[in-house]
Amino acid sequence: MRQKITIAIDGFSSTGKSTIAKLLAKKYNYIYVDTGAMYRAVALFAKKKHFIGKDFFDVEKLIDSLDAISLQFRFNEKLGFAEMFLNDENVENEIRTLEISQLVSKVAAISEVRKKLVAEQQAMGKNGGIVMDGRDIGTVVFPYAELKIFMTASADKRALRRHKELVEKGDAVTYEEILHNVKERDRIDTTREDSPLIKADDAIEFDNSDLGIQEQFERICGLIDERIN
Ligand code: DC
Repeated sequence: MRQKITIAIDGFSSTGKSTIAKLLAKKYNYIYVDTGAMYRAVALFAKKKHFIGKDFFDVEKLIDSLDAISLQFRFNEKLGFAEMFLNDENVENEIRTLEISQLVSKVAAISEVRKKLVAEQQAMGKNGGIVMDGRDIGTVVFPYAELKIFMTASADKRALRRHKELVEKGDAVTYEEILHNVKERDRIDTTREDSPLIKADDAIEFDNSDLGIQEQFERICGLIDERIN
């Protein structure tokens, strides 16, 4: 039988990590886990409880409530991917708004939040056969992953992609707002004390500013095949 490996995909926001990860999971029949969705769901919980807003964040209240947060991915056959459920409620759309994108990096910088989510992520991947994307998968969650990919692209290209996605969904957001958010999240994600976004020494870097999805997908499949055959 072919070995079921662990694939860690890290990188900056809107570099197409989840698009590639979903394609890989489908091809190899692996589980796909979008860890950003988990941090987003915690940010949504904090927002709904009024622990966080544009100009305030009651970190202690969020930490005290962490046990009341239950996160689950449920596979949607029609969509072909798993949706995020927060305390049994489908929040897949709510977690993707610009408002949550503006709050999530602050929530993801809290060590207690990271500790809870990292433990859940490690449990999901304990048997291998998993593609997980995020910021600290190759460095913290699965430091022994057989394949680590690190994705980058210029901030402008990433903002253009994210802007297109949100506009197609009907969100009234400007390119400038998105570019500002992309840069601000890069800043917080790379400078936070706990598990900052950095490339693992043994990760393979892809700058996909000018690289298409299909080409990246094929190159990564080649790397996976080398490892499992
Ligand atoms: O991948 P994303 O844009 O949905 O992630 C949302 C935020 O969550 C991102 O700004 C950083 C944070 N995050 C993290 O700190 N660690 C992860 N493993 C995944 C996401």
